[in-house]
Amino acid sequence: MYNDKVIDHFTNPRNVGEMPDADIVGESGSFKCGDTMKIYLKIEDDKIADIKFQTFGCGAAIASSSMLTEMVKGKTLAEAQQVTNDDVAAELGGLPPLKMHCSNLAADALQDALKRYREKKKSVHP
Ligand code: FES
Repeated sequence: MYNDKVIDHFTNPRNVGEMPDADIVGESGSFKCGDTMKIYLKIEDDKIADIKFQTFGCGAAIASSSMLTEMVKGKTLAEAQQVTNDDVAAELGGLPPLKMHCSNLAADALQDALKRYREKKKSVHP
């Protein structure tokens, strides 16, 4: 059902865990399955200096989050904003159609974190 890349990221996820000193945290949840995701970002010079994730999601969600963190680490916020769930699934070499919604969890949590960061910056420097 899953290709080797997906299985690798699922069994050996990168950047998993909590980040107590995160600059911002993003969250998402799936209406389809009820699973949830948190993404923690450390931001320096408008770039993602560090990223971690935690999820109560399935294997595809874990693999998608792991891949997403590798894709955006070191990227500018503007670059990270362009990353979609389709990009993550493509980078993983594809996900089964029934599991495509799982990749939304990671991308949605990242976009939520970036949105919250923009709002936080606006409230500090209106
Ligand atoms: Fe819920 Fe995959 S089934 S995230």
